[in-house]
Parts: sequence; structure tokens; C-alpha cells
Amino acid sequence: MKAATKLMEMETEDIRILAAVELGMKKHEMVPIKHISYFARYELEETEYRLDRVHKMGLLQRNKVGSVAYCLISEGYDILALHTLFSQGYIESVGPPLGKGKESDVYRCLTKDNEQVALKVHRLGQTSFRSIRKFRSYIDERTHTSWLYISRLSAKREFEGLKRVAKLNLRTPKPIAQNRHAVVMSIIQGEEISKFDELNDPDVHFNKIVGEYKLFFSKAHVIHGDLCEFNILLDPDDNVLIIDWPQWEDWNHPNALELVTRDITNLCTFFQKKGVESNSDEIIRDIMQLNPKFREQTKK
Ligand SMILES: Nc1ncnc2c1ncn2[C@@H]1O[C@H](COP(=O)(O)OP(=O)(O)OP(=O)(O)O)[C@@H](O)[C@H]1O
Ligand SMILES: [Mg+2]
Repeated sequence: MKAATKLMEMETEDIRILAAVELGMKKHEMVPIKHISYFARYELEETEYRLDRVHKMGLLQRNKVGSVAYCLISEGYDILALHTLFSQGYIESVGPPLGKGKESDVYRCLTKDNEQVALKVHRLGQTSFRSIRKFRSYIDERTHTSWLYISRLSAKREFEGLKRVAKLNLRTPKPIAQNRHAVVMSIIQGEEISKFDELNDPDVHFNKIVGEYKLFFSKAHVIHGDLCEFNILLDPDDNVLIIDWPQWEDWNHPNALELVTRDITNLCTFFQKKGVESNSDEIIRDIMQLNPKFREQTKK
């Protein structure tokens, strides 16, 4: 990870200037130098010197016209998250990539006790508006919906979702820490089921996944919200591991039925290609019936 290497070259004052730009971005898309100097509590001269340094490191963008102003670019934001997670002692070094999703980079890291953990860095809103649509219900009308804001929101949601399901002691990644757009979680070993040409026993896998899904729903009151063959891993012992939790919703969400329907339909469609016959309507009904509120509604 480039940001991890750059972080080693940075001085405390550089970090402080980045944090000041971040603060300024709550109100401005491009933050004027005066504001940066105010937030950093540095004289203008020191501010300019630091901004120039950090800009040369490729962590900031400077506007090309008008008075000088800056904004963070994603590597600058990575530095801030890493710096915090390092100083809080959650990670000590960042290693090779573990995977790359549509909207995230996942790295293998080491803690100060030499334990391996996964670092998932959320990257939303830079390449597509899909992610902005995804989080629309959480985005305050007044807030400008920058990539920075929705990436942080996505990480926060995932951390909360992981905490909810962790109580069940299933094989979901265990949440460890979250800062800005980054989540530290336990590493899990497994391969996405989409990558298997053949599954040893697709019926067994299918039933295990439905079984876990019911536990998520009935015991943690959570709907995954993005269940698909890319977010289900199989470990060498054929255990199923369900990952990728930023889109979870509470089981009482107004669109609970639609969300469960989408998840289960995705699952049934994938397993049908592996020869598993299933009745998705029945499974969806069984799941929804686990929620007393929904049971009441369907009685009326
Ligand atoms: N805790 C973990 N341990 C090991 N590998 C992981 C872990 N979390 C994710 N990975 C790897 O990284 C890949 C991408 O992760 P994930 O599916 O969570 O992100 P994503 O697809 O970008 O998310 P989204 O669907 O929100 O865009 C996974 O397919 C997996 O290979
Ligand atoms: Mg995924």
C-alpha cells in the first residue's frame, strides 16, 4: 500500500496539515489556505511550507485557478486513517493485498503482537454513482456527498454490522477497529464460491448458507443486503464464510422484504446453476416469519 510507505516519511506537522485540510473539507470542496492555517494553528508561512511538502508527496490536490486552495485525495485520506490506527496500536505494518472488491482494497496487516489482521479500505464514489445511490437513505440532504464522506459512512456501517453478527460466533470476520474509511477485522481464509467450477456438495452449502442467513436475521436482527457469490467464501474445510457487510439493514427496515428477497433470489439463482433446486418464495417466507413484527402484519 503506497500510503503505508509514505506514512513512514512523514513528520508530525505533515499529518497535522492533512488533518486540517480534512476538517476544512466539511464545509469546502477546496479549502482556502487561511482556513487550513486556522485549523492547523500554524502561521501562514509554516502552513504554506507544509502544504507544499504534502502536495509534492501526492496527498493533496491544489486548485489550478483562483486563489490557492487544497483538498485531500484518497491517498491523503488513507494516511490519516493509517496514522490513527497505527498510533492506537491496532496495526503496525501493512502487507500485501488480500483481495480487491468493487469498492474496496483489502490488505493483510500485522499488529504489534505480530498477529495477522485484515484492513479493508472503503473506496466509494470516485468511479461511479452506484455507491452514492446505495447510501442515499443515510446521506443528509444538506451534506455534500463527497467520496470521503460516503467511504467513511460505508466503513462505519460495515463495522456496526460486523459487531452485530459477531455475537453469533459464526464465521464472519470479527470487527477490531474502524477509523475514517478503514476497518480492521480478523482475517478469514477462504475462496469466493464464484471461483469454484464445481462444489463438493452444493446442496449442503446452500442449506448452510440459508441456515446462517436465518440466524443473522432471527438472532442478530440483521439483513445482509448484498448476498451474492462474491461475498460468500468457502474455507478448506468447506465452511461457509459470509463477508462484506456495509449494506446491512435492521430486520424491521421498511424494505426488509425487498432486501431479503434480493439476497435469497441471488443465492437461489447462483445455486441453481450448480444443480440445486429450491423454492425461493418459500425460503423468503420462512425467513420473514422469524420476525414477530412481520408475522403480525401478515396475520391482519
Ligand atoms: N476479513 C477478510 N479476510 C480475508 N480476506 C478478506 C477479508 N475481507 C475481504 N477479503 C477479501 O477481499 C475481497 C473484497 O472484500 P469485500 O467483498 O468485503 O469488498 P467489496 O466487494 O469491495 O465490497 P462492496 O461489495 O461493498 O464493494 C474478498 O473477496 C476477499 O477475497
Ligand atoms: Mg464483495
